[in-house]
Amino acid sequence: MKTRATCLALFLVACGGEEEPTAPVNETPVTPGDPRFVRAPALDVENVSQADEARSHNMGLNCLGCHQVYGPGRGRFTIGGTAHDVDGTPLVNPIVELRTKGPFEGGGELITTVYGDKNGNFFSTEPLPFPEAVFPVVYSADRSKKNAMPFPTSSGACNHCHTGGFKVRVALP
Ligand code: HEC
Ligand code: HEC
Repeated sequence: MKTRATCLALFLVACGGEEEPTAPVNETPVTPGDPRFVRAPALDVENVSQADEARSHNMGLNCLGCHQVYGPGRGRFTIGGTAHDVDGTPLVNPIVELRTKGPFEGGGELITTVYGDKNGNFFSTEPLPFPEAVFPVVYSADRSKKNAMPFPTSSGACNHCHTGGFKVRVALP
């Protein structure tokens, strides 16, 4: 009499199939920034902002949270952020300079200039001196407005700090 054995076998199979495979205990989901994140090599391309372009997204978020070796963003950014006008709206075509000295020491020498896009975002995959400390200065497109960070930053992840009400602004309100 095979019938009962077959039924039992089918029952066990069905039973096992009902349960979703579960991740081992203590295994948290892999999110950008996690060293377990597997990045597609095809994402490692040049990606630099330019005036009048609007390819970018996620204004105000920390670009380098995703545009990094353990993230899904196109290009590994050395700098990334969003510049805002006095009223807090994204500033069209901002200009960001990195300098060797701060505003109280004459600004020193220009290291590089990044030209932001229509969304107010500025970003680059070019090599930059970080984690060496540099002084950012932000200008409006016509350079009529200017605002300098009074002390240096050793990170190009501008929106990591400049978040919420504390945006990168081209002038103080
Ligand atoms: C939550 C993750 C995440 C954040 C945060 C993020 N990006 Fe991205 N970004 C992506 C992904 C994913 C892509 C698409 C990658 C691909 O090509 O498959 C992308 C693509 C891009 C592209 C290429 C668009 C194109 O088609 O040419 C630009 C430019 C860009 N991001 C700029 C930025 C800027 C600037 C910031 C910060 C203000 C930012 N991103 C924040 C995930 C992110
Ligand atoms: C580690 C955190 C941190 C990072 C990263 C950072 N900043 Fe700042 N930034 C600050 C703080 C704090 C101030 C406020 C100084 C003050 O209140 O006098 C500031 C001030 C500024 C200001 C002066 C305007 C204002 O609202 O006070 C500008 C412009 C600026 N930062 C631009 C940038 C840019 C561009 C980057 C990226 C290259 C950047 N910052 C990265 C912390 C940071």
